[in-house]
Amino acid sequence: MKNDETIHQAAQIIQNGGIVAFPTETVYGLGADAFNPLAVARIFEVKRRPYFDPLIVHVASPADVKKLVKEIPSNVKEIIKRFWPGPLTVVLFKKEDIPDIVTAGLPTVAIRMPSHPMALSLIKESKRPIAAPSANPFGYLSPTTAEHVRDQLGDQVDLILDGGPCPIGVESTILSFLEERPRLLRPGGVSLEEIESIIGKVEISPIEDDKPSAPGMLPKHYAPRTPIVLDWNEKDLDHYKGKNIGLLAFQEPKNYLKFQSIEVLSKKGDIREAAANLFAAIRRLDALDLDLILAEPIPEIGLGRAIMDRLRRASKNVYVGFNNDKV
Ligand code: TXA
Ligand code: MG
Repeated sequence: MKNDETIHQAAQIIQNGGIVAFPTETVYGLGADAFNPLAVARIFEVKRRPYFDPLIVHVASPADVKKLVKEIPSNVKEIIKRFWPGPLTVVLFKKEDIPDIVTAGLPTVAIRMPSHPMALSLIKESKRPIAAPSANPFGYLSPTTAEHVRDQLGDQVDLILDGGPCPIGVESTILSFLEERPRLLRPGGVSLEEIESIIGKVEISPIEDDKPSAPGMLPKHYAPRTPIVLDWNEKDLDHYKGKNIGLLAFQEPKNYLKFQSIEVLSKKGDIREAAANLFAAIRRLDALDLDLILAEPIPEIGLGRAIMDRLRRASKNVYVGFNNDKV
């Protein structure tokens, strides 16, 4: 089937209350009509996502924001002008008619206009905003290919649009505009440096164990089955003799011998390339039945901040201290 026909079919599914997985420039989303609470409920069921974790509403044009929120502050207009379509989500006070299931009962809504042509066509043809989280089971890695979605949610969604691998590979940056100063709730595809160059200083919400800043930003997230450890050094490797260890390397590593398998995120050390490869590389390591994945830290500039945020969350609560043998 040609792309146009498939998108047309997908739009009809959305209009009829179904759910469709679709590519965006960041990760694959699982979408439903944002104004159909029953359709949105199916997303929560399929993902096994807790209802306290609100969804992002995807629009096809900046003009659509007016229909969803009470007021658009001038710095939001500026930032939208600069970064939409693209990997930036803004949180604003919502209009009453957005169903509570979308926003988890909050008085606010998260909105973004993706730049992926398939995502844009789908929203346009559906003629309504699409509520969509990432298309993965709750707490697991986000999908960056249609196969990832098929493997994990395949028979539970009505259609999967295949747009190839996602070019950015980490989720959108989430900025909230509810207070005096904008606040970064999740680092992502647009870097903090780029944002601050347009709207000035932004507050940063750190990961908190018991009180996530974005309701869904639980510290343990993006986790594969295999434990990931981020805080380690060469000496620790001796403790793991006889274990199968994988390495998630940023660049070409110096030491190949001690690892069962190695994934290099970017041979030339390009952070954008590393982000695009991140989730697929972790998935490949996770499929090998390793005892442990050791991840190399990435410089926290540009997209490096988003990568390190995901790695920290993926490695949170991994109780595999180097002094015991519980690996
Ligand atoms: O790149 C992306 O943003 C992808 C693609 C599919 O667009 N979507 C995505 O959605 O990552 P999801 O559901 O996996 O993450 C959305 C995050 C959650 O942590 C949620 O808590 C937060 O956005 N969020 C949604 N609405 C919010 C609100 N009103 N206030 C604060 N955080 C909100
Ligand atoms: Mg997600």
